Amino acid sequence: MKLSLFSLLSLAIAMGSYSSTSMAQDLQQDLIKKGEYLSNAGDCVACHTSENGEKFAGGRAVDSPFGPIYSTNITPSKTAGIGNYTYEEFEQSLRHGIRADGAFLYPAMPYPSYQKITDEDTKAMYAYFMHGVKAVDVEATETSLSFPFNQRWGIRFWDWVATDDGAFVADPKQSEEHNRGAYLVQGLGHCGSCHTPRGIIYQEKSYDHANKSFLSGADIGIWHAPSLRAGNNTNLEHWSVQDLMDYFSTGRNYYSAVAGEMTDVIQYSLSHLTKDDLHAMAIYLKSQSGQKSAKSEDTSAPGNTTKLLNSAKVDINSGARLYLDNCNACHFTDGAGAPHVFPQLDDNSLVNAENPDGLIHIILAGARLPSTTNAPEAIEMPGFGWRLNDKEVATLATFVRQSWRNNATKVDADEVKEIRQTISSEVLNKSAPQVY
Ligand code: HEC
Ligand code: HEC
Ligand code: HEC
Repeated sequence: MKLSLFSLLSLAIAMGSYSSTSMAQDLQQDLIKKGEYLSNAGDCVACHTSENGEKFAGGRAVDSPFGPIYSTNITPSKTAGIGNYTYEEFEQSLRHGIRADGAFLYPAMPYPSYQKITDEDTKAMYAYFMHGVKAVDVEATETSLSFPFNQRWGIRFWDWVATDDGAFVADPKQSEEHNRGAYLVQGLGHCGSCHTPRGIIYQEKSYDHANKSFLSGADIGIWHAPSLRAGNNTNLEHWSVQDLMDYFSTGRNYYSAVAGEMTDVIQYSLSHLTKDDLHAMAIYLKSQSGQKSAKSEDTSAPGNTTKLLNSAKVDINSGARLYLDNCNACHFTDGAGAPHVFPQLDDNSLVNAENPDGLIHIILAGARLPSTTNAPEAIEMPGFGWRLNDKEVATLATFVRQSWRNNATKVDADEVKEIRQTISSEVLNKSAPQVY
């Protein structure tokens, strides 16, 4: 950097008229701002805030195969939160899953991914949580799993086997932007905690792209987190970098609309990130190839379903009839929907998921797009649970899963019955007309 005499002089004048404490305060404010941005990228708020609870005051149940694990209060409260945490204690919790009292945290807190966060970013987040967050003196619900899962020391052995020991490794062959995307996806974004399949001891099969299983798709509860690699019926094969950025910033793009567990990720995390960061993540994801499918080359199938629906007589088979009567108005006979508003059902990852539970849930209960700054209106799909019985939903879901280019297994009425039981009657009847 070249410093002219002039700039040195003006710097000296500026420093003279500017007390060193207020300069330190400005630096501290910048650090807190940066920490806030990074905690958005890490989506801390989604897990550490309960429904209708105060921001970061914890108490939200994170489902695990062993029972609910409650997030803790991470506000700077000295009695209920982490107000007494030193930087080292904060760093150990965030990156290594070790609490200030030495106990091991359950991996419901995604520290296996967060260990990739740099020192610099961890320090900024510490500044934010200590000085930029409002203290809330309310204790969060405590986690009480049954034996042996209440034995936190056991987690230590799990850590040895299940997590890789790794700071983030940049790839020198890739651009700075690509590496920034990789850093956000693998680390703060902890995308793998939902999108990477888990192994026998519930560990993520991989934590970076060195392994083909990374981000190759997984089931979480009834939802399917699709593969983020190009391949068999995945949207990532067709979506451009711009389509991905649209999806990240608004929850919708030309083809699709978000539902299920991904809604919070868009609403609380991705829609708050800068365009540059979203672009970097999209570039990185598009560079990860997966299994190529032969099927998506086949364009004859969409024509057939569309023809059937367009020329439908009154006595057409019942899957097609149910589609025309209930879905056609928004998703259209070619299953292509309407760009940015009604998602495309043709060749859609949710529709083709091996496990149809997410599709069944949407037909029964409907779905609501998140409202984000860039796409504020929350568009809704009504639920049909009040109107269609289990058999009809199964027939309809099977039809949708086997039409156009879709090619997934049948759905039977018992599966629908099971999902219906998990939905409250209030939600099931939400779209029903009110008759007095
Ligand atoms: C997927 C959900 C999830 C996300 C995302 C998440 N946490 Fe956590 N976190 C938890 C859970 C659950 C616990 C409690 C685990 C336990 O009790 O063993 C926890 C515990 C903690 C603790 C230990 C607190 C204590 O009381 O000792 C800290 C600190 C923490 N999280 C910080 C963060 C920060 C900072 C972020 C964002 C970068 C974050 N968490 C994101 C679920 C999450
Ligand atoms: C809490 C679990 C969870 C986390 C964390 C998560 N996702 Fe997702 N994601 C999902 C689910 C479930 C879907 C399916 C949503 C749907 O079908 O509408 C999804 C869908 C997607 C899609 C659309 C894929 C398609 O084929 O339609 C993209 C892209 C995506 N996620 C990227 C990411 C990125 C990038 C991250 C990390 C910043 C991330 N996700 C973190 C659960 C998650
Ligand atoms: C009034 C318009 C409307 C009708 C009728 C409608 N949908 Fe939707 N559908 C939407 C909207 C809007 C979304 C996006 C909402 C969201 O994902 O949060 C959506 C989302 C979906 C999705 C999720 C797609 C994805 O990629 O996440 C599926 C699957 C779906 N609809 C299937 C159906 C089926 C099957 C029917 C008939 C029973 C139907 N829809 C009827 C408007 C409609």
